[in-house]
Amino acid sequence: MTKHAIGIFDSGIGGLSIWKEIIQVLPYQETIYLADSKNAPYGQKSKKEIIALCKKNTEYLLEKGCTIIVVACNTATTNAIQVLRDSYDIPFIGIEPAIKPAAFKTETNTIGILATKGTLNSRLFAETSKKYMDGIHVIEQIGEGLVPLIESGEITSDKTTALLKKYIRPMILKNIDCLVLGCTHYPFLIPQIKKITGESVQIIDSGLAVAKQTKTILNQQGLLDQDAPIQHLIISNGTLKPLKEVVHGIANTQIIQNDF
Ligand code: DGL
Repeated sequence: MTKHAIGIFDSGIGGLSIWKEIIQVLPYQETIYLADSKNAPYGQKSKKEIIALCKKNTEYLLEKGCTIIVVACNTATTNAIQVLRDSYDIPFIGIEPAIKPAAFKTETNTIGILATKGTLNSRLFAETSKKYMDGIHVIEQIGEGLVPLIESGEITSDKTTALLKKYIRPMILKNIDCLVLGCTHYPFLIPQIKKITGESVQIIDSGLAVAKQTKTILNQQGLLDQDAPIQHLIISNGTLKPLKEVVHGIANTQIIQNDF
């Protein structure tokens, strides 16, 4: 990798929902994506454990020559991004549940948030909620069990659909008109979620905003590459099948197994 590769990591395949936006917005930028599936889910781990995993991922990506890192995981961002920024001398882009756009969009003044326990219990999430949620009724729901199902390729299984119904139907009864997906794994469930919510609920995630923010930062740092060809590398310490399904048909992308 001779260009300015963007490092991206998540606890598994979830961050590929962000990676897909990034490669659209930045078509000439090389990427190295780290899927730490062996340690998924992050959402049930302590802050200390999450920080240690984030540091390990960061150091691996730095060794590979990345010059900027996208923390494509809400749980990792809300628990560890400050430590990462304080510890390493490169830019970090994080992702947080998109509650600010939801606060602007809601007409029923009621929004739902589906995220991991680690995200919903974090101080950063509490601070952001306090800032934007004044006067808005927020229904928080931990998406317990969803990440392991997505990681094992059960995106459309009956078990996944049953869990989604259990988590989302009570929010609909409470009149939400926006549902924030506060975990990067969940955008893969949007077709099933839409079947439950119908058209009256807007589903909001932060993928495109993160990709645009990455472009802005690269531009500011003079790291924006302008010419082809490029290569994307995806490294996983778990099984490759679910990754291959998500990446199927995307050019210049190599997927390898490595116990990093
Ligand atoms: N995809 C991650 C997130 O955005 C983490 C999921 C997990 O490992 O629990 O929160």
